[in-house]
Amino acid sequence: MQIDAFDIDLFLRNHWQKRPALIRNPWNAWVNPLAPEELAGLACEDDAESRLIEQAGDSWTLAHGPFAASRFAKLGRQPWTLLVQAVDHHVPDVAALIDPFRFIPNWRIDDVMVSYATDGGGVGPHFDQYDVFLLQGLGRRRWRVGPRCDESTPLRPHDDLRLLAEFDATDEWVLEPGDILYVPPGFAHDGVAVGDDCMTYSIGFRAPSRSELIADWCDHVVERMQEDDRYADPDLQAQDNPGEISSSALDRLHGMIAERMLDRDAFARWFGEYNSIRKYPDIDWQPDEAIDRTDLRDLLTAQTPLCRNPASRFSFIRQGGQAVLLFVDGQSFECAGETALLAEALCAGERVHPTPDLTHSPAALNLLAALVDQGSLAFEQED
Ligand code: SIN
Ligand code: CO
Repeated sequence: MQIDAFDIDLFLRNHWQKRPALIRNPWNAWVNPLAPEELAGLACEDDAESRLIEQAGDSWTLAHGPFAASRFAKLGRQPWTLLVQAVDHHVPDVAALIDPFRFIPNWRIDDVMVSYATDGGGVGPHFDQYDVFLLQGLGRRRWRVGPRCDESTPLRPHDDLRLLAEFDATDEWVLEPGDILYVPPGFAHDGVAVGDDCMTYSIGFRAPSRSELIADWCDHVVERMQEDDRYADPDLQAQDNPGEISSSALDRLHGMIAERMLDRDAFARWFGEYNSIRKYPDIDWQPDEAIDRTDLRDLLTAQTPLCRNPASRFSFIRQGGQAVLLFVDGQSFECAGETALLAEALCAGERVHPTPDLTHSPAALNLLAALVDQGSLAFEQED
């Protein structure tokens, strides 16, 4: 699927993280990639996270899936919305919807959530912590957007849903199939289906909170510490007042923390590993047996394409010279020379055509075997 009339630089400069953007059908030929019945089918499966929101006047109820197929037939005439998370992990044509947005780095991508609503259905006025492209797949939806909210914005009392107590929209648009609405973090929004069979694809991004970053980085550092790594003062001088905590003691104490907590190289490796941990580990491509080296060489010689597991997360950081540190599903791999080029190719696209010369590189073979064995990568099977 291709997107034509969309100026990426202009969008990044004027809208990304700043203000909403309405992008009227920029596709050269928009085709809805998933039928409502297929979405309902996914909501019945154990390995897909799904929610059903039913509305009765001003009251909203939320139920979590998986749902029995008969549940959908029992829904009444009141508006309802079905939402399924990470549909891109299950449906390649939905994963392809991320492609036009690959100008945003892999590590910021979350997943594609798909919603289906009947006439008048929606999830209610709310704000999210994340950037999202709301792509209208089927039917029509009226979106009302703005203003920017924060933690102090009043919410309605509700156990499960964070709905805004008041919502005075600054903009309003009806989206038709193929139209896209970008909403930055914190902006109030409310989408209501206009007519039945309304499907919306939410291409969602993620950004770590400072508290999550600090807490998880600290846990990582602390887990690696020794009991005998402690304050020491062999140069202690007699003090006038034994009650004083001297500034030299404080400098040393503070230094003990700063030295470890601000170690940029250790942080970089930790962050890459941490950020690449999968959100949904259930989509398991791990083979029963480790890949055989001869088979691996044969597949490379035949230039069999390699595919990333859609649930896997691939990213890298550059190190000195030609080297890169590759992160895949919580693991890191030091790569140099042709293995670094391979690592970069694996991060650049979800399908890679290996070159036969990789068979001569033990490091590249080790990397590919490790990624296949951990279920992050597979050679494309012929049907
Ligand atoms: C929806 O698809 O109905 C809701 C998406 C959102 O508001 O984030
Ligand atoms: Co939202």
